[in-house]
Amino acid sequence: MTASSFDRVRPYRWDGTTLALLDQRRLPFQEEWIDCGDAAAVAAAIRDLVVRGAPAIGIAAAYGVAMAACQCEADSAEAARKVLAPTLEHLRAARPTAVNLAWALDRMDARLAALAGRDDWREQLAAEADAIATEDLAANRHMGELGAALIAPGSGVLTHCNTGSLATAGLGTALGVIRVGCEKGRIAAVYAGETRPWLQGARLTVWELQQDGIDATLIADSAAAHLMAQGRVQWVIIGADRITANGDVANKIGSYQLAIAARHHGVKFMVVAPSSTVDMATARGADIEIEERDPAELLGIAGHRTVAEGIAAWNPVFDITPASLIDAIVTERGVVEQPSVESMAALFGHGAG
Ligand code: MRU
Repeated sequence: MTASSFDRVRPYRWDGTTLALLDQRRLPFQEEWIDCGDAAAVAAAIRDLVVRGAPAIGIAAAYGVAMAACQCEADSAEAARKVLAPTLEHLRAARPTAVNLAWALDRMDARLAALAGRDDWREQLAAEADAIATEDLAANRHMGELGAALIAPGSGVLTHCNTGSLATAGLGTALGVIRVGCEKGRIAAVYAGETRPWLQGARLTVWELQQDGIDATLIADSAAAHLMAQGRVQWVIIGADRITANGDVANKIGSYQLAIAARHHGVKFMVVAPSSTVDMATARGADIEIEERDPAELLGIAGHRTVAEGIAAWNPVFDITPASLIDAIVTERGVVEQPSVESMAALFGHGAG
């Protein structure tokens, strides 16, 4: 097995004019592709979790902008920038927490601004979206090596949510480290939490690993502390939706309690994310908007109601893990151990915030 032989699933297909998205709501039993004919369809797909995972939603949005450029009748890049501004804002509003979405849109907008006076701005915008995806895959491959090197041979690991090929341009962030760690014999046992309520772990992560021939054991989210108490895992490895200037991490709901349990049990905690997830303009995790989704996601499973009528539910879908509970943040630029304002600034410079 090699890292590239792991790399079989893709969340999107781009044919130069149209974006198709693998409908992650239907996995693992149905592999349906949805054709997005315009940027509004891409925004709806991001909002409705057809495509999800921080890097993947940024990539999808970038292709949404490329599509909008092809469809827009502006006769110059300068005119197109004005015409496309509401489209970019519509895409930006699709989900609030993962900064990769805003990062990708800002990058597309900056590219369009730089294309003033050129005739090939439509082709160049499509090339920029391609570059965002290509760079993400390269970052994941590099982070896979950097993260796996931190893990002692024969370790057990626990991951949360889905951070694999489905959530990125390929290979994955935390799941990339796990794939490379398995390939190199550093990881002997993989556990994945279900990730209630949307079940990214149960529906997506163990399915991806199964296709690679990597054995993974699914646990209920509430079994994590017991797993650690039994000494079965030496690392918790997660991805991120946003990392702030002080090293706080927003990630899937439940990440914070994993970090607390890990610290209690002497289990190390690793966050793996590309620099497109780092938001140096935001000072701390408390400043991040946490997405709250429909409480109905908690009131049933797969469309079947499990909770009595009239019960209220609260459904925040991300939480903040404070930097003090994190042992290592792995990015393609390098590893930040024991993250702090100083160590983050050393790698990423000073933010505007
Ligand atoms: O709500 P989701 O499924 O988009 O949440 C995804 C996560 O929280 C991932 O851990 C994060 O985006 C990192 S994916 C490489």
